[in-house]
Amino acid sequence: MIQIKLLICLLVLHICEHSFAKKCDSCKLLRQCPEALNLVSDTNAAVKQRLKDALCGTTTVDGVRHPMICCNNFITVSVRFADTETDIETHENIALLPENCGSINGDRIVGGSYANLYEFPWMALVSRITGTHNGKRQTQFHCGGTAINSRYILTAAHCVVGQRLAGIRIGDFNINTPEDCQGEYPHFVCEQHIQDIRINNTIVHEDFKVLPSVQNDIALIRLKYPIDFSFKNAKPICLPLFNKLRNISLDGKQATVAGWGITEFSRASPVLRKVEIPIKSDNECRHYYDRNYDSGTNNIINKILCAGEVGKDSCKGDSGGPLMLEELYNDIYRMIQFGVVSYGPQQCGSATPGVYTDVRQYVKWILDNIEP
Ligand code: ARG
Repeated sequence: MIQIKLLICLLVLHICEHSFAKKCDSCKLLRQCPEALNLVSDTNAAVKQRLKDALCGTTTVDGVRHPMICCNNFITVSVRFADTETDIETHENIALLPENCGSINGDRIVGGSYANLYEFPWMALVSRITGTHNGKRQTQFHCGGTAINSRYILTAAHCVVGQRLAGIRIGDFNINTPEDCQGEYPHFVCEQHIQDIRINNTIVHEDFKVLPSVQNDIALIRLKYPIDFSFKNAKPICLPLFNKLRNISLDGKQATVAGWGITEFSRASPVLRKVEIPIKSDNECRHYYDRNYDSGTNNIINKILCAGEVGKDSCKGDSGGPLMLEELYNDIYRMIQFGVVSYGPQQCGSATPGVYTDVRQYVKWILDNIEP
């Protein structure tokens, strides 16, 4: 008996020293549980451990013993939209967000790691005061953000809390040059108009926490003066306002993240960069960030998305910036922000994905907190 179990374990799951003690009311043959079966080939130690912990017995089919798995452990019930679904589309502040948002530029340069000059005109730089030198205040762009309308920048709470903010900049591309040029003759364009705008006030999510795990890492910056959207390099991004948009499955979708953060060459990039990264399912996310899930129900507690793969990640300095997807928005493909860069592995681009605040969960909070 022990020998058979050992053999099955070794051959099928590499689960060896397990005893099937746990009670489970969804104990199924592994092959009848696609959610778990998907994970069998995963080489991650945490994933292996989860499979091992879910083993609930064996069963004999045609004289061969097969492992059984507690399938419910791998099924996450969707509770994501329960609290917000109803009152968003009819929210009185929905009119404060521009309909003409997230416009996708036809002439973008595809495939490069640099963004195109006008590709992400909603990208904002958030700047903080780092000290004074010879009576002059020193500032640093420490985070990204996005323009959601002419008065508000969406960013991460940790970009705002404990910082003396100096202002925001919109329309920049290479922060080290006064004029940014791109393309080749006859499509050579230069841009030098930037908008540096002072901050009126910041609104940090009231339940933002860092410990025991980062929660509600989202904030709004209200500007002193409105952004002038008549410039080609200053436009708002769309938010997933519609129920339909908040209910599409993001699992495995390729999303774009953009920012001026650290690159693989371990320096902050003066030029806006972008990378396409896959959004992970809740199940996958859980392997890396178990503390964000309720151990009893398996439901996600923290409202986050995981995204990234080896060699593709956001990094330090990208915080507050967007994770975005092109989706249909009022029948037109537009760029919609689904995530805010929050945190991730110390070593950016490792197998552990980055964590993004799940914007779908905060649309109501955003609407509740903006003013005309
Ligand atoms: N908190 C970081 C920042 O200050 C964002 C880090 C994202 N890291 C990652 N590996 N995805 O910019």
